[in-house]
Amino acid sequence: MAIRINRTDVAPPDDARVSLLDLLRDRMHLTGTKVGCNQGACGACTVLVDGERVLSCLTLAAQVDGRAVTTIEGLGADALHPLQAAFLEHDGLQCGYCTPGQICAASAMLEEIEAGLPSYITRDLSGPVTVSRDEVRERMSGNLCRCGAHNGIVDAIMAVAAERAV
Ligand code: FES
Repeated sequence: MAIRINRTDVAPPDDARVSLLDLLRDRMHLTGTKVGCNQGACGACTVLVDGERVLSCLTLAAQVDGRAVTTIEGLGADALHPLQAAFLEHDGLQCGYCTPGQICAASAMLEEIEAGLPSYITRDLSGPVTVSRDEVRERMSGNLCRCGAHNGIVDAIMAVAAERAV
């Protein structure tokens, strides 16, 4: 089989121990995906697999054989993704190291809300899930920003959510 990475089919690595993160960065040179903790705690390595967010440091490349992986390079391949533009407009970054993971996570997170998936803090489980700052904070809590740009990040995501709701 093959791993589809940003619309390109790639053979899975011979070594079954290679993480998706290492495949992307070291073998594909897609360095937009960042290494932070390398143990599932920071979210810097977040990418999309079949549209769902995963931590690529905790995912073996072999696990995504036959699936579609989208990195920040793929998300903004044709034009600046609305989340990328919103992060710029709302100062959702300082050093930018966590930004690719934040944007990949936010992209999938908005889909999760639109699909009606509740979070830990969703109070009403009987109706559609509404986007609120608290929902966004809870759902993005796996993506850390050491610069402390979280308010700007939430602002950016709220702006995109509002645009999508129109
Ligand atoms: Fe994967 Fe931190 S590098 S969660």
